[in-house]
Amino acid sequence: MDLSIIILAAGQGTRMRSGLPKVLHPLAGRSLLGHVIETARTFAGADIHVVVGHGAGQVRTAFPDADIHWVIQDQQLGTGHAVAQVLPGIADDRAVVVMYGDVPLIRHATLAALLADAIRGEIGLLTAELDQPAGYGRIVRDDHGQITAIIEEKDASDAQRLIREINTGFMAAPADRLRGWVAALDNNNAQGEFYLTDVIALAVRDGVKVGTVTTQDPHEILGVNDRMQLAELERCYQRQQAETCMQSGVTLIDPARFDLRGTLQAGEDVVIDVNAVLEGEVVLGDRVAIGPNVVLRDTRIGADVTVLANCVIEEATIGSGVRIGPFSRIRPETRLADHAHVGNFVEIKKSDVGQGSKINHLSYIGDTTIGSSVNIGAGTITCNYDGANKHRTVIGNDVFIGSDTQLVAPVEVKDGATIGAGSTITRDAPADELTLSRAPQETRKGWQRPVKKKP
Ligand code: UD1
Ligand code: MG
Repeated sequence: MDLSIIILAAGQGTRMRSGLPKVLHPLAGRSLLGHVIETARTFAGADIHVVVGHGAGQVRTAFPDADIHWVIQDQQLGTGHAVAQVLPGIADDRAVVVMYGDVPLIRHATLAALLADAIRGEIGLLTAELDQPAGYGRIVRDDHGQITAIIEEKDASDAQRLIREINTGFMAAPADRLRGWVAALDNNNAQGEFYLTDVIALAVRDGVKVGTVTTQDPHEILGVNDRMQLAELERCYQRQQAETCMQSGVTLIDPARFDLRGTLQAGEDVVIDVNAVLEGEVVLGDRVAIGPNVVLRDTRIGADVTVLANCVIEEATIGSGVRIGPFSRIRPETRLADHAHVGNFVEIKKSDVGQGSKINHLSYIGDTTIGSSVNIGAGTITCNYDGANKHRTVIGNDVFIGSDTQLVAPVEVKDGATIGAGSTITRDAPADELTLSRAPQETRKGWQRPVKKKP
Protein backbone atom coordinates (compact mmCIF):
# COMPACT_ATOMS: atom_id res chain seq x y z
CA MET A 1 0.00 0.00 0.00
CA ASP A 2 1.41 3.40 -0.97
CA LEU A 3 1.89 5.88 1.82
CA SER A 4 1.06 9.57 2.13
CA ILE A 5 2.37 11.48 5.12
CA ILE A 6 0.60 14.61 6.34
CA ILE A 7 2.61 16.93 8.56
CA LEU A 8 0.60 19.56 10.42
CA ALA A 9 2.52 22.80 10.78
CA ALA A 10 0.05 25.65 10.34
CA GLY A 11 -0.21 26.69 13.99
CA GLN A 12 1.24 29.96 15.21
CA GLY A 13 3.29 28.87 18.17
CA THR A 14 2.30 31.94 20.18
CA ARG A 15 4.14 30.80 23.29
CA MET A 16 7.49 30.88 21.53
CA ARG A 17 7.12 34.70 21.37
CA SER A 18 9.12 34.72 18.19
CA GLY A 19 9.20 36.33 14.77
CA LEU A 20 10.26 32.96 13.42
CA PRO A 21 7.54 30.37 12.79
CA LYS A 22 7.76 27.79 15.56
CA VAL A 23 8.58 24.84 13.30
CA LEU A 24 11.67 26.69 12.00
CA HIS A 25 13.30 26.93 15.43
CA PRO A 26 16.38 24.71 15.46
CA LEU A 27 16.94 21.59 17.51
CA ALA A 28 20.53 20.36 17.25
CA GLY A 29 21.15 22.67 14.31
CA ARG A 30 18.16 21.55 12.25
CA SER A 31 14.66 23.02 12.32
CA LEU A 32 11.92 21.14 14.16
CA LEU A 33 10.12 20.63 10.86
CA GLY A 34 13.41 19.53 9.30
CA HIS A 35 13.64 16.67 11.81
CA VAL A 36 10.05 15.64 11.09
CA ILE A 37 10.54 15.75 7.33
CA GLU A 38 13.74 13.75 7.65
CA THR A 39 11.89 11.03 9.55
CA ALA A 40 9.06 11.12 7.00
CA ARG A 41 11.63 10.60 4.25
CA THR A 42 12.82 7.38 5.87
CA PHE A 43 9.61 5.88 4.40
CA ALA A 44 10.90 5.40 0.89
CA GLY A 45 8.45 6.39 -1.81
CA ALA A 46 5.99 8.08 0.56
CA ASP A 47 4.63 11.41 -0.60
CA ILE A 48 4.94 14.16 1.97
CA HIS A 49 2.31 16.88 2.43
CA VAL A 50 3.00 19.75 4.81
CA VAL A 51 0.12 21.94 5.98
CA VAL A 52 1.30 25.49 6.56
CA GLY A 53 -0.48 28.69 7.60
CA HIS A 54 1.32 31.08 9.92
CA GLY A 55 4.56 32.16 8.27
CA ALA A 56 3.82 29.84 5.33
CA GLY A 57 6.15 31.69 2.96
CA GLN A 58 9.06 31.54 5.38
CA VAL A 59 8.49 27.86 6.10
CA ARG A 60 8.31 26.96 2.42
CA THR A 61 11.50 28.79 1.51
CA ALA A 62 13.32 26.93 4.29
CA PHE A 63 12.62 23.68 2.37
CA PRO A 64 13.27 24.30 -1.30
CA ASP A 65 13.26 20.55 -1.98
CA ALA A 66 10.89 19.55 -4.74
CA ASP A 67 9.59 16.42 -3.01
CA ILE A 68 7.31 18.28 -0.59
CA HIS A 69 3.68 19.06 -1.38
CA TRP A 70 2.75 22.29 0.36
CA VAL A 71 -0.84 22.85 1.38
CA ILE A 72 -1.98 26.22 2.69
CA GLN A 73 -4.48 26.34 5.52
CA ASP A 74 -5.45 30.01 5.64
CA GLN A 75 -7.43 29.83 8.86
CA GLN A 76 -6.47 27.39 11.58
CA LEU A 77 -9.84 25.83 12.26
CA GLY A 78 -8.44 22.72 13.89
CA THR A 79 -6.40 19.61 13.23
CA GLY A 80 -9.33 17.92 11.44
CA HIS A 81 -9.73 20.95 9.19
CA ALA A 82 -5.97 20.90 8.48
CA VAL A 83 -6.09 17.27 7.35
CA ALA A 84 -9.19 18.04 5.26
CA GLN A 85 -7.13 20.54 3.22
CA VAL A 86 -4.78 17.76 2.13
CA LEU A 87 -7.10 14.81 1.50
CA PRO A 88 -8.30 15.96 -1.96
CA GLY A 89 -4.70 15.47 -3.11
CA ILE A 90 -4.44 11.89 -1.81
CA ALA A 91 -5.84 8.86 -3.67
CA ASP A 92 -8.27 6.48 -1.93
CA ASP A 93 -6.02 3.44 -2.11
CA ARG A 94 -3.24 4.94 -0.01
CA ALA A 95 -2.44 4.76 3.68
CA VAL A 96 -2.15 8.08 5.51
CA VAL A 97 0.10 8.89 8.47
CA VAL A 98 -0.45 12.16 10.35
CA MET A 99 2.55 13.79 12.02
CA TYR A 100 3.05 17.12 13.83
CA GLY A 101 5.67 19.60 12.66
CA ASP A 102 6.56 20.50 16.24
CA VAL A 103 7.17 16.98 17.58
CA PRO A 104 10.69 16.36 16.28
CA LEU A 105 11.94 13.15 17.88
CA ILE A 106 9.35 10.64 16.67
CA ARG A 107 10.96 7.42 15.39
CA HIS A 108 10.50 5.53 12.17
CA ALA A 109 9.75 2.25 13.98
CA THR A 110 6.92 3.82 15.97
CA LEU A 111 5.30 5.24 12.85
CA ALA A 112 5.77 1.92 11.06
CA ALA A 113 3.77 0.21 13.82
CA LEU A 114 0.90 2.67 13.26
CA LEU A 115 1.13 2.16 9.54
CA ALA A 116 0.73 -1.60 9.94
CA ASP A 117 -2.77 -0.97 11.35
CA ALA A 118 -3.69 1.34 8.49
CA ILE A 119 -2.59 -1.25 5.94
CA ARG A 120 -5.02 -3.71 7.55
CA GLY A 121 -7.80 -1.16 6.98
CA GLU A 122 -7.83 -0.11 10.63
CA ILE A 123 -6.72 3.00 12.51
CA GLY A 124 -3.41 3.10 14.30
CA LEU A 125 -3.16 5.61 17.13
CA LEU A 126 -0.05 6.44 19.14
CA THR A 127 -0.77 6.95 22.82
CA ALA A 128 1.36 7.37 25.93
CA GLU A 129 0.85 7.08 29.68
CA LEU A 130 1.85 10.32 31.36
CA ASP A 131 2.08 11.15 35.04
CA GLN A 132 1.00 14.66 34.17
CA PRO A 133 -1.45 14.36 31.30
CA ALA A 134 -2.70 17.97 31.54
CA GLY A 135 -3.19 19.66 28.19
CA TYR A 136 -3.46 16.48 26.14
CA GLY A 137 -6.48 14.71 24.68
CA ARG A 138 -7.41 11.69 26.85
CA ILE A 139 -7.95 8.16 25.57
CA VAL A 140 -11.38 6.89 26.65
CA ARG A 141 -11.78 3.08 26.77
CA ASP A 142 -14.81 0.88 27.44
CA ASP A 143 -15.11 -1.94 29.99
CA HIS A 144 -13.32 -4.29 27.61
CA GLY A 145 -10.41 -1.92 27.28
CA GLN A 146 -11.40 -0.97 23.74
CA ILE A 147 -10.84 2.64 22.82
CA THR A 148 -14.08 4.50 22.16
CA ALA A 149 -13.07 8.13 21.78
CA ILE A 150 -10.51 10.84 22.40
CA ILE A 151 -11.71 13.67 24.61
CA GLU A 152 -9.84 16.95 24.49
CA GLU A 153 -8.93 18.32 27.91
CA LYS A 154 -11.18 21.34 27.49
CA ASP A 155 -14.15 19.08 26.75
CA ALA A 156 -13.38 16.46 29.39
CA SER A 157 -15.32 15.71 32.55
CA ASP A 158 -13.48 15.70 35.87
CA ALA A 159 -13.41 11.91 35.77
CA GLN A 160 -11.98 11.89 32.23
CA ARG A 161 -9.26 14.32 33.25
CA LEU A 162 -7.94 11.68 35.64
CA ILE A 163 -7.16 9.40 32.68
CA ARG A 164 -3.40 9.21 32.23
CA GLU A 165 -3.37 7.68 28.75
CA ILE A 166 -3.10 10.53 26.27
CA ASN A 167 -3.28 11.10 22.53
CA THR A 168 0.11 11.95 21.07
CA GLY A 169 -1.47 13.18 17.85
CA PHE A 170 0.22 10.61 15.61
CA MET A 171 -2.29 8.49 13.71
CA ALA A 172 -2.49 6.30 10.62
CA ALA A 173 -5.56 5.30 8.60
CA PRO A 174 -6.59 4.23 5.11
CA ALA A 175 -7.20 7.33 2.96
CA ASP A 176 -10.72 6.37 1.83
CA ARG A 177 -12.01 5.81 5.35
CA LEU A 178 -10.27 8.90 6.68
CA ARG A 179 -11.86 11.00 3.96
CA GLY A 180 -15.34 9.94 5.06
CA TRP A 181 -14.71 10.55 8.75
CA VAL A 182 -13.01 13.91 8.26
CA ALA A 183 -15.94 15.06 6.11
CA ALA A 184 -18.27 14.14 8.98
CA LEU A 185 -16.43 16.20 11.65
CA ASP A 186 -18.15 19.12 13.29
CA ASN A 187 -16.94 21.88 15.57
CA ASN A 188 -19.46 21.58 18.39
CA ASN A 189 -16.90 21.56 21.15
CA ALA A 190 -15.28 23.80 23.72
CA GLN A 191 -12.78 25.26 21.23
CA GLY A 192 -15.10 25.51 18.24
CA GLU A 193 -12.54 23.58 16.19
CA PHE A 194 -12.72 20.63 13.84
CA TYR A 195 -10.87 18.02 15.89
CA LEU A 196 -9.04 15.28 14.03
CA THR A 197 -9.37 13.31 17.25
CA ASP A 198 -13.14 12.94 16.73
CA VAL A 199 -12.30 10.59 13.86
CA ILE A 200 -11.76 7.90 16.50
CA ALA A 201 -15.36 7.91 17.76
CA LEU A 202 -16.59 7.90 14.13
CA ALA A 203 -14.42 4.89 13.31
CA VAL A 204 -15.67 3.03 16.39
CA ARG A 205 -19.25 3.83 15.32
CA ASP A 206 -18.47 2.32 11.88
CA GLY A 207 -17.10 -0.81 13.52
CA VAL A 208 -13.51 -0.13 12.45
CA LYS A 209 -10.90 -1.34 14.88
CA VAL A 210 -8.66 1.29 16.45
CA GLY A 211 -5.29 -0.14 17.39
CA THR A 212 -3.17 1.73 19.87
CA VAL A 213 0.58 1.75 19.93
CA THR A 214 2.14 2.91 23.18
CA THR A 215 5.59 4.40 23.33
CA GLN A 216 7.87 3.91 26.31
CA ASP A 217 10.10 6.79 25.34
CA PRO A 218 8.38 9.99 26.44
CA HIS A 219 10.72 12.22 24.44
CA GLU A 220 9.57 10.72 21.20
CA ILE A 221 6.16 12.32 21.56
CA LEU A 222 7.09 15.61 23.21
CA GLY A 223 6.06 18.70 21.30
CA VAL A 224 7.64 22.11 21.48
CA ASN A 225 5.32 24.87 22.60
CA ASP A 226 7.76 27.23 24.31
CA ARG A 227 11.49 27.80 24.59
CA MET A 228 11.76 25.84 27.84
CA GLN A 229 10.45 22.73 26.11
CA LEU A 230 12.76 23.41 23.17
CA ALA A 231 15.78 23.53 25.49
CA GLU A 232 14.62 20.40 27.31
CA LEU A 233 14.30 18.45 24.06
CA GLU A 234 17.67 19.74 22.87
CA ARG A 235 19.35 18.37 26.01
CA CYS A 236 17.53 15.08 25.70
CA TYR A 237 18.51 14.73 22.05
CA GLN A 238 22.13 15.66 22.78
CA ARG A 239 22.22 13.12 25.59
CA GLN A 240 21.03 10.43 23.18
CA GLN A 241 23.67 11.44 20.63
CA ALA A 242 26.38 11.50 23.29
CA GLU A 243 25.43 7.97 24.32
CA THR A 244 25.52 6.78 20.71
CA CYS A 245 29.00 8.28 20.34
CA MET A 246 30.25 6.66 23.54
CA GLN A 247 28.76 3.31 22.55
CA SER A 248 30.68 3.54 19.29
CA GLY A 249 33.95 4.02 21.21
CA VAL A 250 34.38 7.78 21.60
CA THR A 251 35.41 9.10 25.02
CA LEU A 252 33.40 12.14 26.02
CA ILE A 253 34.89 13.70 29.13
CA ASP A 254 31.43 15.01 30.03
CA PRO A 255 28.50 13.81 27.91
CA ALA A 256 26.39 16.66 29.32
CA ARG A 257 28.74 19.17 27.73
CA PHE A 258 28.80 17.80 24.19
CA ASP A 259 26.78 19.22 21.31
CA LEU A 260 26.50 17.52 17.97
CA ARG A 261 24.54 19.55 15.44
CA GLY A 262 25.00 17.24 12.51
CA THR A 263 26.85 13.96 12.15
CA LEU A 264 30.07 12.64 13.63
CA GLN A 265 32.06 9.81 12.13
CA ALA A 266 34.84 8.93 14.55
CA GLY A 267 37.68 6.41 14.45
CA GLU A 268 39.07 4.43 17.37
CA ASP A 269 39.95 5.99 20.72
CA VAL A 270 38.88 9.50 19.96
CA VAL A 271 38.72 11.71 23.04
CA ILE A 272 36.57 14.82 23.16
CA ASP A 273 36.93 17.20 26.08
CA VAL A 274 34.16 19.42 27.46
CA ASN A 275 32.13 21.99 25.51
CA ALA A 276 32.85 20.74 22.03
CA VAL A 277 30.32 21.92 19.43
CA LEU A 278 30.33 19.80 16.26
CA GLU A 279 28.29 21.09 13.34
CA GLY A 280 27.52 19.69 9.91
CA GLU A 281 29.54 16.65 8.87
CA VAL A 282 32.55 16.03 11.06
CA VAL A 283 34.97 13.15 10.51
CA LEU A 284 37.65 12.37 13.11
CA GLY A 285 40.40 9.80 12.52
CA ASP A 286 41.79 7.31 15.03
CA ARG A 287 43.18 8.69 18.28
CA VAL A 288 42.15 12.29 17.60
CA ALA A 289 42.07 14.39 20.77
CA ILE A 290 39.79 17.42 20.84
CA GLY A 291 40.47 19.90 23.63
CA PRO A 292 37.94 21.92 25.60
CA ASN A 293 35.79 24.64 23.95
CA VAL A 294 36.42 23.62 20.36
CA VAL A 295 34.02 24.28 17.47
CA LEU A 296 34.30 21.98 14.44
CA ARG A 297 32.10 22.49 11.40
CA ASP A 298 32.08 20.37 8.23
CA THR A 299 35.64 19.27 8.81
CA ARG A 300 37.67 16.10 8.22
CA ILE A 301 40.54 15.40 10.59
CA GLY A 302 43.07 12.59 10.07
CA ALA A 303 44.53 10.19 12.63
CA ASP A 304 46.62 11.21 15.64
CA VAL A 305 45.66 14.87 15.49
CA THR A 306 45.55 17.02 18.60
CA VAL A 307 43.31 20.04 18.67
CA LEU A 308 44.07 22.03 21.80
CA ALA A 309 41.65 24.27 23.67
CA ASN A 310 39.56 27.04 22.13
CA CYS A 311 39.95 26.40 18.41
CA VAL A 312 37.38 27.09 15.69
CA ILE A 313 37.79 24.93 12.58
CA GLU A 314 35.36 25.27 9.68
CA GLU A 315 35.20 23.47 6.31
CA ALA A 316 38.79 22.33 6.57
CA THR A 317 40.66 19.15 5.75
CA ILE A 318 43.32 18.22 8.26
CA GLY A 319 45.89 15.48 7.63
CA SER A 320 47.27 13.10 10.24
CA GLY A 321 49.66 13.91 13.09
CA VAL A 322 48.72 17.58 12.96
CA ARG A 323 48.71 19.80 16.05
CA ILE A 324 46.37 22.79 16.21
CA GLY A 325 45.89 25.39 18.91
CA PRO A 326 45.30 26.50 21.51
CA PHE A 327 43.32 29.46 20.14
CA SER A 328 43.65 28.77 16.40
CA ARG A 329 41.08 29.68 13.80
CA ILE A 330 41.01 27.55 10.67
CA ARG A 331 38.59 28.91 8.06
CA PRO A 332 36.95 27.34 5.00
CA GLU A 333 38.95 25.77 2.18
CA THR A 334 42.01 25.24 4.30
CA ARG A 335 43.99 22.02 3.97
CA LEU A 336 46.71 21.15 6.46
CA ALA A 337 48.97 18.31 5.32
CA ASP A 338 50.30 15.63 7.68
CA HIS A 339 52.33 16.78 10.69
CA ALA A 340 51.65 20.48 10.18
CA HIS A 341 51.58 22.61 13.34
CA VAL A 342 49.36 25.61 13.82
CA GLY A 343 49.65 27.51 17.06
CA ASN A 344 47.99 30.23 19.08
CA PHE A 345 46.32 33.24 17.50
CA VAL A 346 46.85 31.98 14.00
CA GLU A 347 44.10 32.47 11.39
CA ILE A 348 44.27 30.49 8.15
CA LYS A 349 41.82 30.90 5.28
CA LYS A 350 41.61 29.21 1.86
CA SER A 351 45.17 27.96 2.05
CA ASP A 352 47.21 24.80 1.67
CA VAL A 353 49.84 24.12 4.28
CA GLY A 354 52.37 21.44 3.30
CA GLN A 355 53.67 18.49 5.23
CA GLY A 356 55.51 19.28 8.46
CA SER A 357 55.17 23.05 8.05
CA LYS A 358 54.72 25.23 11.11
CA ILE A 359 52.81 28.43 11.74
CA ASN A 360 53.06 28.65 15.46
CA HIS A 361 52.26 32.16 16.60
CA LEU A 362 50.11 35.19 15.76
CA SER A 363 49.76 34.97 11.98
CA TYR A 364 47.22 35.56 9.24
CA ILE A 365 47.59 33.24 6.27
CA GLY A 366 45.01 33.78 3.52
CA ASP A 367 44.84 32.60 -0.11
CA THR A 368 48.23 30.99 0.29
CA THR A 369 50.01 27.83 -0.80
CA ILE A 370 52.76 26.73 1.55
CA GLY A 371 55.10 23.85 0.66
CA SER A 372 56.53 21.26 3.03
CA SER A 373 58.94 21.85 5.95
CA VAL A 374 58.30 25.57 5.99
CA ASN A 375 58.63 27.68 9.11
CA ILE A 376 56.46 30.76 9.26
CA GLY A 377 57.75 33.08 11.97
CA ALA A 378 55.63 34.76 14.61
CA GLY A 379 53.49 37.63 13.43
CA THR A 380 53.75 36.87 9.71
CA ILE A 381 50.88 38.32 7.68
CA THR A 382 49.90 37.59 4.10
CA CYS A 383 48.52 40.84 2.69
CA ASN A 384 46.06 39.13 0.38
CA TYR A 385 43.54 41.92 -0.10
CA ASP A 386 44.20 45.19 -1.89
CA GLY A 387 40.84 46.66 -1.02
CA ALA A 388 39.22 45.34 -4.18
CA ASN A 389 40.62 41.90 -5.02
CA LYS A 390 42.21 38.93 -3.29
CA HIS A 391 45.63 37.75 -4.45
CA ARG A 392 47.62 34.58 -3.79
CA THR A 393 50.85 34.07 -1.95
CA VAL A 394 52.95 31.07 -2.94
CA ILE A 395 55.64 29.73 -0.63
CA GLY A 396 57.86 26.83 -1.76
CA ASN A 397 59.40 23.97 0.23
CA ASP A 398 61.97 24.44 3.02
CA VAL A 399 61.31 28.16 3.24
CA PHE A 400 62.03 30.11 6.42
CA ILE A 401 59.99 33.25 6.91
CA GLY A 402 61.38 35.48 9.65
CA SER A 403 59.08 36.90 12.28
CA ASP A 404 56.91 39.92 11.58
CA THR A 405 57.06 39.60 7.82
CA GLN A 406 54.40 40.97 5.50
CA LEU A 407 54.01 39.13 2.22
CA VAL A 408 52.22 41.50 -0.15
CA ALA A 409 50.35 39.32 -2.64
CA PRO A 410 50.57 38.39 -5.40
CA VAL A 411 54.02 37.24 -4.45
CA GLU A 412 56.10 34.08 -4.48
CA VAL A 413 58.83 32.89 -2.14
CA LYS A 414 60.75 30.12 -3.88
CA ASP A 415 62.11 26.84 -2.47
CA GLY A 416 64.78 27.13 0.19
CA ALA A 417 64.48 30.92 0.47
CA THR A 418 64.97 32.73 3.78
CA ILE A 419 63.17 35.98 4.53
CA GLY A 420 64.73 38.22 7.13
CA ALA A 421 62.61 39.20 10.10
CA GLY A 422 60.54 42.35 9.80
CA SER A 423 60.52 42.39 6.00
CA THR A 424 57.82 43.70 3.71
CA ILE A 425 58.10 41.46 0.67
CA THR A 426 56.51 42.96 -2.44
CA ARG A 427 58.46 41.12 -5.16
CA ASP A 428 59.22 37.41 -5.61
CA ALA A 429 62.03 36.08 -3.43
CA PRO A 430 64.49 33.77 -5.25
CA ALA A 431 65.29 30.20 -4.21
CA ASP A 432 67.97 29.45 -1.63
CA GLU A 433 68.83 33.12 -0.99
CA LEU A 434 68.29 35.47 1.95
CA THR A 435 65.86 38.23 1.03
CA LEU A 436 65.00 41.02 3.40
CA SER A 437 63.69 44.53 3.33
CA ARG A 438 64.72 46.48 6.30
CA ALA A 439 65.67 50.10 6.95
CA PRO A 440 69.33 50.30 7.95
CA GLN A 441 69.76 50.33 11.70
CA GLU A 442 71.29 53.44 13.14
CA THR A 443 72.45 54.41 16.59
CA ARG A 444 72.54 58.05 17.69
CA LYS A 445 75.45 58.35 20.02
CA GLY A 446 74.88 60.41 23.12
CA TRP A 447 71.15 60.98 22.45
CA GLN A 448 69.24 61.96 25.58
CA ARG A 449 65.71 61.03 26.53
CA PRO A 450 63.46 64.07 26.89
CA VAL A 451 62.64 65.00 30.48
CA LYS A 452 59.34 66.34 31.75
CA LYS A 453 59.23 70.15 31.92
CA LYS A 454 58.68 71.67 35.35
CA PRO A 455 55.36 73.61 35.51
C1 UD1 B 1 -3.68 18.01 19.73
C2 UD1 B 1 -4.71 16.90 19.88
C3 UD1 B 1 -4.62 16.31 21.28
C4 UD1 B 1 -3.23 15.80 21.52
C5 UD1 B 1 -2.20 16.89 21.29
C6 UD1 B 1 -0.82 16.28 21.32
C7 UD1 B 1 -6.58 17.57 18.46
C8 UD1 B 1 -7.93 18.15 18.44
N1 UD1 B 1 -5.99 17.45 19.66
O1 UD1 B 1 -4.04 19.03 20.65
O2 UD1 B 1 -5.55 15.25 21.41
O3 UD1 B 1 -3.13 15.31 22.85
O4 UD1 B 1 -2.38 17.49 20.00
O5 UD1 B 1 0.15 17.29 21.26
O6 UD1 B 1 -6.06 17.20 17.44
N2 UD1 B 1 -2.45 22.59 13.42
C9 UD1 B 1 -2.67 22.96 12.13
N3 UD1 B 1 -3.85 23.57 11.81
C10 UD1 B 1 -4.83 23.80 12.73
C11 UD1 B 1 -4.59 23.41 14.06
C12 UD1 B 1 -3.40 22.80 14.37
O7 UD1 B 1 -1.83 22.79 11.26
O8 UD1 B 1 -5.86 24.35 12.34
C13 UD1 B 1 -1.19 21.93 13.76
C14 UD1 B 1 -0.35 22.72 14.76
O9 UD1 B 1 0.56 23.58 14.09
C15 UD1 B 1 0.37 21.60 15.50
C16 UD1 B 1 -0.61 20.43 15.46
O10 UD1 B 1 -1.49 20.72 14.39
O11 UD1 B 1 1.54 21.21 14.85
C17 UD1 B 1 -1.38 20.26 16.75
O12 UD1 B 1 -2.13 21.42 17.01
P1 UD1 B 1 -2.33 21.99 18.47
O13 UD1 B 1 -3.15 23.21 18.40
O14 UD1 B 1 -1.05 22.04 19.19
O15 UD1 B 1 -3.24 20.83 19.13
P2 UD1 B 1 -3.41 20.52 20.64
O16 UD1 B 1 -4.47 21.41 21.20
O17 UD1 B 1 -2.11 20.50 21.32
MG1 MG C 1 -0.12 21.21 20.88
